[in-house]
Amino acid sequence: MSSGHPGLINDFIEKGEPFHWSDKNLKEIEIIKSKYPEDRHQSAVMPLLYLAQNQNNNWLSTECIEAVSKALAMPKIRVAEVATFYSMFNLKPVGKNLIQVCRTSPCMLRGSKKITDTIIKETKCGINQTTDDGLFTVVEVECLGACSNGPMIQINNDFYEDLNEENTKKIIENIKENKPNKVGSQTGRVSSENA
Ligand code: FES
Repeated sequence: MSSGHPGLINDFIEKGEPFHWSDKNLKEIEIIKSKYPEDRHQSAVMPLLYLAQNQNNNWLSTECIEAVSKALAMPKIRVAEVATFYSMFNLKPVGKNLIQVCRTSPCMLRGSKKITDTIIKETKCGINQTTDDGLFTVVEVECLGACSNGPMIQINNDFYEDLNEENTKKIIENIKENKPNKVGSQTGRVSSENA
């Protein structure tokens, strides 16, 4: 099995701790692979990357890439190509709360810059940085598919929509104080109906 240039993957994906699939994920891998024809198991690369990321504190190390490569008999460089294409895959360690701010046109026109500035101010975390206490990582991403409710952000697996400076500040404060946040629209909008 070819893995491409041996040093190439380490140029853009960080090394981590040794990675071994959990028993639960080994079973899950077999279930996922069974959904594809025998000669098309490589099509399962995205769900396996997602499994690896979840098992590895929400980021993909070179060791994770190697584990997915082995599980699918797929060259490492091909796995890395997929991992580096999608912003849902994190290629270096991230904080406990990964804040993704949508900066694409619909959200931008509705004020995403103010949301970004508020988040930077309240978390004291710059873009593409992680706070020293590991509580926050902040990144900017392209459209997350909730344009009608922009501006919006994603924190870990949850969307927060219809944001303004005040409700964004409150969301950050609640996280710092370990209080729950209301997910979805912050203004009471139902789904993507007109407000
Ligand atoms: S432009 Fe922000 S969710 Fe689509």
